[in-house]
Amino acid sequence: MAYSGPFKYGDRVQLTDAKRRHFTLYLKEGNKFHSHQGIVEHDDIVGMDEGSVITSTMGGQFLMFRHLMVDHVLSMPRGAQVIYPKDAAQILIEGDIFRGAKVLEAGAGSGALSMALLRAVGPEGHVYSYELREDHIGYAIDNVKEYFGEQPQWWSPRLGDFQELTPEDTDGPVDRIVLDMLEPWEMLTTVKNMLVPGGVFITYVATVPQLMKVMEGIREQQCFTEPRAWESLVRDWKVEGLATRPEHRMNAHTAFLIMTRRLADGVVPPRPKRKARR
Ligand SMILES: C[S@@+](CC[C@H](N)C(=O)[O-])C[C@H]1O[C@@H](n2cnc3c(N)ncnc32)[C@H](O)[C@@H]1O
Repeated sequence: MAYSGPFKYGDRVQLTDAKRRHFTLYLKEGNKFHSHQGIVEHDDIVGMDEGSVITSTMGGQFLMFRHLMVDHVLSMPRGAQVIYPKDAAQILIEGDIFRGAKVLEAGAGSGALSMALLRAVGPEGHVYSYELREDHIGYAIDNVKEYFGEQPQWWSPRLGDFQELTPEDTDGPVDRIVLDMLEPWEMLTTVKNMLVPGGVFITYVATVPQLMKVMEGIREQQCFTEPRAWESLVRDWKVEGLATRPEHRMNAHTAFLIMTRRLADGVVPPRPKRKARR
């Protein structure tokens, strides 16, 4: 599937009409898109640049783009709640997901985070996505295939319990681990066993009791750096002359993120020194 350049056969194209209604089609030789405003020939779209407008037989005008990853994530079928783009963006940068990295994630859920990880590590890396539920891994596989046009060679989606993994399952320890599940604190021994020294562990939990449990659990393991916890708030703005102001509505809470790094074996973390109070 192409992500840029003029439209080709096989591309998925999003058409938007004057009333901002969206229509999605897959470009196929000889096919026609029928709308209440007449017909558009797929063959006429091929070769046009993204961002062009095509006119149907009855004069309807449609603006055309390929889907962005965010469009796909927010519209795809889901079995489990997805990690929203604002949090996936935090995970990629704060979790230091680099090109060529070997990344382990669980649960795969609907595959939203898998897509972001796969794109970040690229074909030089590898993503292992574990999922307990057969129906959920089915959604993840379908959604990832739909986005990439096929199953990426550098992806291993697997039905299984993260807690039971050993480094043999991933051909040795991994560089990064991302967990999005209800009880990540139950998984910390596995995280310790699967992660290379210096490797990053990042997890995503929705509630304060979960946040407290995972932070305490990480400290108890004595093999991680002091964990950092944060959340990200994104507020859109309406920008229209003198009416410029923040939007009234926002997604005020999705989840908390917690990040830590694996220490080398046998290392006891040095205690942070505080200045003596006078
Ligand atoms: C919120 S969903 C994950 C959504 C996913 N990150 C996404 O962006 O689409 C949580 C998933 O974790 C799975 N899960 C829970 N415990 C697990 C475990 N021990 N091993 C593997 N998957 C697990 C659940 O079945 C569920 O599908």
